[in-house]
Amino acid sequence: MVFDAAALMILASADRAAFQLNPCLPGHHDPYPIYAAMSAECPLQWCEGAQMWIILGHPEAVAHMHDPRYSRQRHLDKLIERFGSGHIFHDQKLDIPYMDGEPHALVRHHVIDAFCAIDIPSLEMFTRNFIAERLESISTGEPFDLVPLLADPLPVAVTSELIGVPPDLQQEVLRHVPSFVRSRGLTQTEQTTASGDEAIDVYREFFLPLIHQRRANPQDDLLSRLMVDPRDGTHISDEQLLLFISSNFYSASVFTLRLLVGTLACAMARHPEAFERLRADGSLVGPALEEVLRWDPPAQALNASAATEPIELAGHTIAAGDSVTALVGAANRDPRVFDDPHMFRIERDPNPHLSFAPGLHQCLGRQLARLQGRAVLDAFRQRFQAIHCHEQASHRFMGDRFRGFDRLILEVQ
Ligand code: HEM
Repeated sequence: MVFDAAALMILASADRAAFQLNPCLPGHHDPYPIYAAMSAECPLQWCEGAQMWIILGHPEAVAHMHDPRYSRQRHLDKLIERFGSGHIFHDQKLDIPYMDGEPHALVRHHVIDAFCAIDIPSLEMFTRNFIAERLESISTGEPFDLVPLLADPLPVAVTSELIGVPPDLQQEVLRHVPSFVRSRGLTQTEQTTASGDEAIDVYREFFLPLIHQRRANPQDDLLSRLMVDPRDGTHISDEQLLLFISSNFYSASVFTLRLLVGTLACAMARHPEAFERLRADGSLVGPALEEVLRWDPPAQALNASAATEPIELAGHTIAAGDSVTALVGAANRDPRVFDDPHMFRIERDPNPHLSFAPGLHQCLGRQLARLQGRAVLDAFRQRFQAIHCHEQASHRFMGDRFRGFDRLILEVQ
């Protein structure tokens, strides 16, 4: 029997009510003891606010991630039924995270082929130089906000480098990223749907001319490579490319990485002894990044999908048509898989966290995410002797399904 003190916590009714409203507990300073207590009751819970099943256990989440009996398209159909067909949910049918089966597998292979041609050593050098330049302005002992300094501009710069969009052209697009991301939350309203519609209109206006330009005049960049039709002859339409760029670069990449950069700093500030060990031993950068990803993942839950037939899980039957998500943030602390799951241990090995969703929809950008995450941690350990976080003056991001900081005030030595 694994002893997990947090799991024995008696849930306050306010915490249970908050979980029932939105299981990701947006903006909560520490949702993990609440997840642990819910998971100890049952690793599969029904959430009234999201109207879906929430998987909290690690083995149950892994089974879900590999199970083709769940359909993302079917979940979108439910949203289309609820909000009408003229909305973002209809456009998202072409978006990789919402595709299923054979068409999904084909597009994944195409993206993997295009990503394989990325010149990783030059991208790494670009990333490290960019970080070094941004950190240059920091003075020891003077508080600064890491978000505008590094977390916001780093993924934008890397994305521009990869797909060839000048960063200063992107301001209007970037303003709409949170609304786009929000429209993929677990809970939806008329208002979140309308802001999602507005975001996709802005993306369309901005990216379609760029896509047309590249079709006419291909360059040596990722966007041009994504345009080449896959070997099986499937045509990649402008709308699909638009979705790919908007969803995967301007949401997956720009958004999640921004959150990861803040969480990396916060983890180092909260665990000075771990930071000290990292400073002394650069070989710990990789394992430390994995532990941060496990301990406080930027994407707390997966996109929802709906069961296409009755599915037995954790002693319940998920009925055909019911929607389901895996709460990765909870599964990453499952005491059946991780010793001392609430402890932050940079040398944790093995560390089978689920933060990149290993399964049918495994993150295709994980190598890029790891490249940037390692470069940030390495820069911290080489430049700073200690990191202090002014948590009271900082703000957590409040949105659905994602976790990190909108403002992170640090002081370094
Ligand atoms: C810290 C950074 C990142 C995290 C934590 C992250 C996490 C995830 C997660 C959890 C999923 C699964 C979503 C689901 O099944 O609902 C996913 C999917 C995906 N991610 Fe990432 N991601 C990150 C960065 C990136 C980057 C940099 C890119 C690309 C440039 C990217 C591209 C994708 C794509 C294309 C998918 C969809 C795969 C599919 O549905 O088959 N991600 N990511």
